Amino acid sequence: MVDLRGRSFLTLKDFTPEEISYLLDLAAELKRKKKAGIPVDSLRGRNVALIFEKTSTRTRCSFEVAAHDLGMGATYLDPKSSQIGKKESIEDTAKVLGGMFEGIEYRGYGQEIVEELARHAGVPVWNGLTNEYHPTQMLADMLTIQECFGRLKGIRLVYMGDARYNMGNSYMIACAKMGMDFVACAPKKYFPSEELVAECQEYAKESGATITLTEDVIEGTKNADVICTDVWVSMGEPDEIWEERIHDLTPYKVTKELMDNGSEDVIFLHCLPSFHDLKTQIGEEIGKRFGLIDMEVTDEVFRDSRSKVFQEAENRMHTIKAVMAATLGA
Ligand code: CP
Ligand code: NVA
Repeated sequence: MVDLRGRSFLTLKDFTPEEISYLLDLAAELKRKKKAGIPVDSLRGRNVALIFEKTSTRTRCSFEVAAHDLGMGATYLDPKSSQIGKKESIEDTAKVLGGMFEGIEYRGYGQEIVEELARHAGVPVWNGLTNEYHPTQMLADMLTIQECFGRLKGIRLVYMGDARYNMGNSYMIACAKMGMDFVACAPKKYFPSEELVAECQEYAKESGATITLTEDVIEGTKNADVICTDVWVSMGEPDEIWEERIHDLTPYKVTKELMDNGSEDVIFLHCLPSFHDLKTQIGEEIGKRFGLIDMEVTDEVFRDSRSKVFQEAENRMHTIKAVMAATLGA
């Protein structure tokens, strides 16, 4: 029997396939209930703190809506207005917030920060994205894949782009845990670290998953059930690297041709936000500077019926609700 009460949610490495399936099933049940107008507010009277050292739309809104739905209060601490890291250590912050809140979400930089927060808080801490991992995003993606295909096992998921950062790392872990066929399709220098690959190979032995790293986009996307990508430059990375990334990753842009190379039922996923056109400040600026009309994915693919990105975005809320409900013991 799975019991996650009191547990932090820092990376999927810490969770068994059975525990991950439990969270996905719980999310599906909470989603069904929400759609049917059946309230689940069994965490009434509790409070959560949401620390964001980087900006967010989906993750913040998901935590806030999910907390409210569960009957909880939510306090948002933005990148500038708290003392965290500047005037107060992570250890002290953890102890202060742990005394006032029943759970703490953290989005920021190094994974070691969220790990330290969890060591000292005395209440569950949830990783809302670090440089290394984005585990709540993985639950949303897995739920979306399950909804589209009715299963995870044996699904071939191809990640295109910078495969050694939070999204690439997290997909490899999630796929390895859940018995999926993971393909990182990227230039060699963007492959996930050998250490993480070795760790994931161990999970794969248990689950029947496979892990493939390839530079070849045709070989990589062949028979893909899921093709996914992410921005080429992540939050916190310097502007100077745009040129190099555009040069290196343009061959890995998700195009209609690559989608057509996938399986008959192939879907497209993207954690968002995405540069699929020039309708953003950065998109316009970079587009003009480098003569581009899109970046990691074409507008055509993004808007195609095979693109499930908005279903995926909605699932952030249902899955984050499941994480809070399970770890706080709703
Ligand atoms: N996918 C995701 O984490 O989105 P936000 O940065 O808007 O939270
Ligand atoms: N890799 C991206 C993910 C955003 C949700 C970033 O870290 O900015």
